[in-house]
Amino acid sequence: MLAGKRIVLGVTGGIAAYKAVEVCRRLVDAGAHVTPIMTDGARHFVGETTLSTLASEAVRTSLWEIDHGADGSPITHTRLGQTADLVIVAPATARVISDLRTGRSADLLSATLIATTAPVLLAPAMHTEMWEHPAVRENLEVLATRGVHVVPPEEGRLAGGDSGAGRLADPATIVEAAEKVLAGTSAAADLAGLAVLVTAGGTREPIDPVRFIGNRSSGKQGYAVAAEAASRGARVTLVTTVDRPPAAGVEVVRVDTADEMHAAVAERSPTCDVVVMAAAVADFKPVDPADRKIKKAGGVPEVVLEPTVDILAALGAAKPAGQTLVGFAAETDDLRANAEAKLSAKGADLIVANDVSAPGAGFEHDTNEVVLLSATGATEVARADKRRIAKAVLDAVTTLRTPNPGSQS
Ligand code: CTP
Repeated sequence: MLAGKRIVLGVTGGIAAYKAVEVCRRLVDAGAHVTPIMTDGARHFVGETTLSTLASEAVRTSLWEIDHGADGSPITHTRLGQTADLVIVAPATARVISDLRTGRSADLLSATLIATTAPVLLAPAMHTEMWEHPAVRENLEVLATRGVHVVPPEEGRLAGGDSGAGRLADPATIVEAAEKVLAGTSAAADLAGLAVLVTAGGTREPIDPVRFIGNRSSGKQGYAVAAEAASRGARVTLVTTVDRPPAAGVEVVRVDTADEMHAAVAERSPTCDVVVMAAAVADFKPVDPADRKIKKAGGVPEVVLEPTVDILAALGAAKPAGQTLVGFAAETDDLRANAEAKLSAKGADLIVANDVSAPGAGFEHDTNEVVLLSATGATEVARADKRRIAKAVLDAVTTLRTPNPGSQS
């Protein structure tokens, strides 16, 4: 898997930088072409000569080096970013993680990370307090929704005699993760040429200009489906109620209400090959939202509700030939029976059913645990991060779209 692959190995400033030398050696031994980049911080921890000697090329350290590469390009970061099959950052400090999340191009490594369209694998290493800081957690969560891969740190001895979570993963584990990422991307083109529409987030139904009826959906699962579909070569449109940056290449349409989501989906779905309704669409909306803020002094208001359009059912009733329609089922009891009823009632080809009351599954969590139901049967997908669940959903979609050779007359 690694033989012949061009890998940029970014090394940042942490005590674990010495282990990057071992990562580099293992990658080169496996036949990869490794170009190392060191940040200024990394140069305090390991010698450039060591890494240059073991890698396939001399270490790069500066945005300002003129690099007349094979194609004559003078611009190092864009050339390295464009030609890489994979960019690994090991160790990845809180700083480089934050730069990648915000798109800050502070040095050659962060510029390369922003310039590349290759998959990115981060191996974070830092003190436990930093690893557990909400800012670092949130940065990694956002990066995961954009398809960035992470080899989590391990528990063990840290710099300064401390111990806890935050120790760089073993070099063998990092190289294994790199192989998996490359294996995933080589199967990646299976959605090339397909138009995929995904919805994400919970709709907001206004009661007045400041209040709404909403739900707990975070949009994470829909964003993960959009990111996975884009990384497998699809043209992806994401209709979302959530203000969060999407994965590279995903076109975003922002909506708020069920009616707006319906209009956005109805306009685009007829030309789509796959539609995934991951959004939590409100079932009811206030009949007559007030156009001014309802004042407390006026007494407790009576909010009369009416049903919204069932977007999935409407799509199912008018499904163009060749389109694969995927719905979700958020349940708190009788998961299978309720989900099976939704499969037939809504005319979907696949229902992704989740028990939203189970620990670590459903709304707001980073993980999920689902049952995939189609006319051909049910498959359980064990608890995993939402990107992996997205992969299982799209694997099921490709299976459903593959003609069964036995069915031809
Ligand atoms: N859905 C939709 N339009 C609605 C309500 C739901 O398109 N007005 C879609 C959701 O996006 C999801 C599927 O229908 O893909 C099932 O949603 P869910 O909330 O589980 O079920 P409901 O149909 O709303 O039924 P109930 O709330 O009674 O379980």
